[in-house]
Formats: sequence, C-alpha cells, structure tokens
Amino acid sequence: MECFVIGIGGGTGSGKTTLTKRLKERLGSAVTVLSYDNYYKSHPDMPYDERVRLNYDHPSAFDTELLVEHLAALRRGETIAAPVYDFKQHDRSDETMLIAPTGVILVEGILILADERLRSQMDVKIYVDTDADVRILRRVVRDVKQRGRSLESVVTQYLTTVKPMHEQYVEPSRRYADIIVPEGGRNAVALDMLVRRVEHHLQNMT
Ligand code: CTP
Repeated sequence: MECFVIGIGGGTGSGKTTLTKRLKERLGSAVTVLSYDNYYKSHPDMPYDERVRLNYDHPSAFDTELLVEHLAALRRGETIAAPVYDFKQHDRSDETMLIAPTGVILVEGILILADERLRSQMDVKIYVDTDADVRILRRVVRDVKQRGRSLESVVTQYLTTVKPMHEQYVEPSRRYADIIVPEGGRNAVALDMLVRRVEHHLQNMT
C-alpha cells in the first residue's frame, strides 16, 4: 500500500501532540497516528520503585524494532495491534489498539528523528522547536495533572535525565528535519502548509 509517513519530533512539552491532533482534525480518516510513547519497553518483572527511576529519555528506553515492524506492516496494508503505554504505572498496559492502514501515517515522539531506521521510513520529517522554559512549564502541569506525578519528582527527573538526554539526543536530531516548526500546533501557517502538502499527496494517489 502506498503510504505517506510524516515524522514529528521535538523535546518534551514542545507541542508535538497538539500539532498531530490538529493535522488529524484537518485531514480526518485518511490519517493514522502512531505515538512513539506507546512503544516504551515493557518491564513486567521490574518492581514499580525501580521502574520510576529508569531513564525514559534515552533511545534504549524504546522498543524501536517493534515500531519499525509496525510501520512496515501498515505499509503492507496490514492492521496492527499497537501497544498502549500507562504513564501512571510506568509500564505498558494490558490493552492494545487496533490500527488499520491508511494513506497517511503520522508518527510522533521525542526521539522519532534520532533513529535511522525510523527516519528512512519518513517522507516528511518535522522538528517542533519550542523554548526550554515553555516546555518544562507545560510538562510540570501535564505530569502533575495527567500522569500522576508529584512536583518534586518532575523537577528531579527533568534535571537528572530529561534535560541531559534532550541535549545529547533530541536537540541534535533536529538536523535531520526537513521542516522546523516553532511552537507546534499553535503555528497556523505551518499547519496550513502541511495540510496542503498532504492533500496534494492524497489527490495524486486517487
Ligand atoms: N516519561 C515519563 N515516564 C515514563 C515514560 C516516559 O516521565 N514512564 C516521559 C519521558 O521522560 C519523556 C516524555 O515522557 O521525556 C515523552 O513524552 P512527551 O514528549 O513529553 O509528550 P508528548 O505528548 O508526546 O509530546 P508534547 O509534549 O510535545 O506534545
């Protein structure tokens, strides 16, 4: 099946999810969304106290093989059972999500542009670029409200792993981007341009 794959990378709290959501709203059922977050490795035998302390911002935290396989399967026209991650448990949940192949696939995640195997599957690579102070503020609010974290744990995690890994792996991956989008989903001009690019692709497919 002919698929058009858009990769959306960028730091934590940069606005990847909002950009992905807006694109999906504008493009509708032609679009499938895969989140790299759902592909965090599972640790069934590790106690919760240890899982909390893992480094979730290093490339090795992700089951990249599985995402590569799933992208290939969607391209072959197969439906996949994508994992679903539970941020409160720091582990993969028992659920899976059935995802059917479509003409356009959006894949988003902090390190989505850092891996060559993933990059080679993308037709358009986007890096969402937002200032670090804005990103950490958004992250604090989100992690406390939605991911069941204490303020103290968010601050400690940010300083010990999130920030150093951002500098080592996420920020350098922006060099692979075709397009840099400041502020993610709030950038109406970038959104319009991307929608037009995808619509052009869809028209040429039919
Ligand atoms: N993470 C965590 N605990 C886990 C697994 C992941 O705190 N058990 C964190 C990682 O530290 C990583 C972040 O989840 O930094 C990745 O999600 P993020 O990019 O912040 O969220 P998105 O909604 O994908 O992106 P955006 O904020 O840009 O919309």
